[in-house]
Amino acid sequence: MSNAGMQISAEQGAFMQVITRMLSAKRVFEIGVFTGYSSTAVALTMKELNPVGARLLACDISEEWTTKARSYWRDAQVDDIIELKLAPAAETLDARIAAGEAGQYDLGFIDADKTGYDSYYERGLRLLRKGGVMLFDNVLWSGRVADPADTSADTSALRAFAQKAKSDTRVHAAMTNIGDGLLICVKK
Ligand SMILES: C[S@@+](CC[C@H](N)C(=O)[O-])C[C@H]1O[C@@H](n2cnc3c(N)ncnc32)[C@H](O)[C@@H]1O
Repeated sequence: MSNAGMQISAEQGAFMQVITRMLSAKRVFEIGVFTGYSSTAVALTMKELNPVGARLLACDISEEWTTKARSYWRDAQVDDIIELKLAPAAETLDARIAAGEAGQYDLGFIDADKTGYDSYYERGLRLLRKGGVMLFDNVLWSGRVADPADTSADTSALRAFAQKAKSDTRVHAAMTNIGDGLLICVKK
């Protein structure tokens, strides 16, 4: 995937803003910030709805990409509600669970390393409140998940993860073809 291809589309940003609005989301985590498009989109809606108390936890491992994100957050005047953690996301989520933040998040967006999706799902489920939502990007993987001959690590992880979420009694799950495929999970 090209660097530019890592960013979500404008249509997906608009869709995520609607989800943010439907949940009146005050606490959100994002895994995979890159240059900040998706976090800026969500944060703008969060701040409009909850000028006081909105908090977005942004997880990434790249100083280089997130330096650009910080500058866009400043331009959009949402930098005050975003906390960036530069560390492997599983470590950041574990620290938040240990800090007593389980059940406190309204929304999570997962758009990082595909082999990590299952670990983000399990940790995210603990952080979400009942009725909270997680959105997983790239679940169609340009159609490669439907190709049985593709057994690469990323494709296999995405395929297994979607199968798991579909039959997991802890969530209501639905897949959409927005962008490269967005899996929506609502915590029961
Ligand atoms: C597809 S990009 C995210 C795109 C972003 N959501 C947007 O709309 O522009 C994936 C990001 O995940 C980050 N990443 C990869 N592995 C990670 C990990 N283990 N923990 C946290 N972030 C990770 C990369 O540094 C990269 O910035």
